[in-house]
Amino acid sequence: MHNKNNITDKIFWVGTNDRRTQLFENYWPLPKGVAYNSYVIVDEKIAIVDTVEKGTMDEYLDNISEVLDGRKADYLIINHMEPDHSGSIRSLVERYPDMKIVGNKKTFPMLERFYGIKENLLEVQEGDQINLGAHQLNFYMVPMLHWPETMVTFESTNGILFSGDAFGAFGTLDGGIFDDELDLDYLDEEISRYYSNIVGKYGRPTQNALKKLAGFDIKMICATHGPIWRSHVADIIAKYDKWSQYKTDEGCVIVYSSMYGNTEKMADNIARQLVKKGIKKVRIHDSSKTHPSYIINDIFKYRGVILGSCAYNGDVFPTMETVINELEHIAIKDHVLGVFGSKSWGGGGLKRLNKFAEDIKWETIEATPEALCAPNAEDFDLCEALAEGMASRLKELYK
Ligand code: FEO
Repeated sequence: MHNKNNITDKIFWVGTNDRRTQLFENYWPLPKGVAYNSYVIVDEKIAIVDTVEKGTMDEYLDNISEVLDGRKADYLIINHMEPDHSGSIRSLVERYPDMKIVGNKKTFPMLERFYGIKENLLEVQEGDQINLGAHQLNFYMVPMLHWPETMVTFESTNGILFSGDAFGAFGTLDGGIFDDELDLDYLDEEISRYYSNIVGKYGRPTQNALKKLAGFDIKMICATHGPIWRSHVADIIAKYDKWSQYKTDEGCVIVYSSMYGNTEKMADNIARQLVKKGIKKVRIHDSSKTHPSYIINDIFKYRGVILGSCAYNGDVFPTMETVINELEHIAIKDHVLGVFGSKSWGGGGLKRLNKFAEDIKWETIEATPEALCAPNAEDFDLCEALAEGMASRLKELYK
């Protein structure tokens, strides 16, 4: 580290930046990398809060040694057991064998099954406290944010919330660690993508956690990824509140699957009609090119969703199947849906999209164009009807 990263005079960031891993959880793209944040509180007793993914462990252990300066860690607080944070626990235990591992009753079975660790455990429950000296740690359970064992640690002396994944972001910490030291415009999509991709399925648990945290005087949020929030605490909480209630803006995301460009033509036609009818925020994605991560993220932003697919072996196109599986899996709520498709003989694409529409239970637009081979004038008229239906509904919702 060579430069200690102070959060206060006694609390330090000892995390790492990972610019090498391509896919987070081996699925979500990391074009701007990711940071694994861990913290050390130096007091009469020393506590480490969370650890890092094992790939960056050597650097992490050096960071800790530098801050501890020959002292030993007394506590390791485990807010979350996913291996991007628990991956270095075993090495820390080897280095500090007397250190107490602090977690809750759902933490420890995972600790044993992942790492074979079952000694020196200190179980905390809702509202329990540990005094380090001048710093007091308070523990609160936030189950399913986004795992069952997740908890947060509130350091009440300075008003610092160690929030685990909540309020986290993709993207490395380039030269700074605080929100006001970093380019938040550059990180904007990485912040929303982290929510929508990783936490987005758990809207209700997020709402429950926000209600629980509402009574705390939070001066700073130290999440396990992304910037440390100190100048924009209210903004990031407001974003989580909006996203976890599935509140969206006026706009429409069109996702299409097209082998030879005919379904794409319909998508472009629908987009043109939407814009002519006053919908400015239109985003078009080709399901074969754009990773679902970005599609989901846009769907968390905009109320309108239009999905179009060619038929493929009597079914929907495979990459569209991936998109609709993801949407069903994450169970995003409260959208307006339009569907369209194309076929060369028996079809199957639109049929699957109609089934998706039935299952997801979003409000739907009546017109469902399906071109035979290439779209003709009649098909484009129906595309216009679909766009008209979507635009007028969005205008009604956002008037
Ligand atoms: Fe960043 Fe759920 O781990």
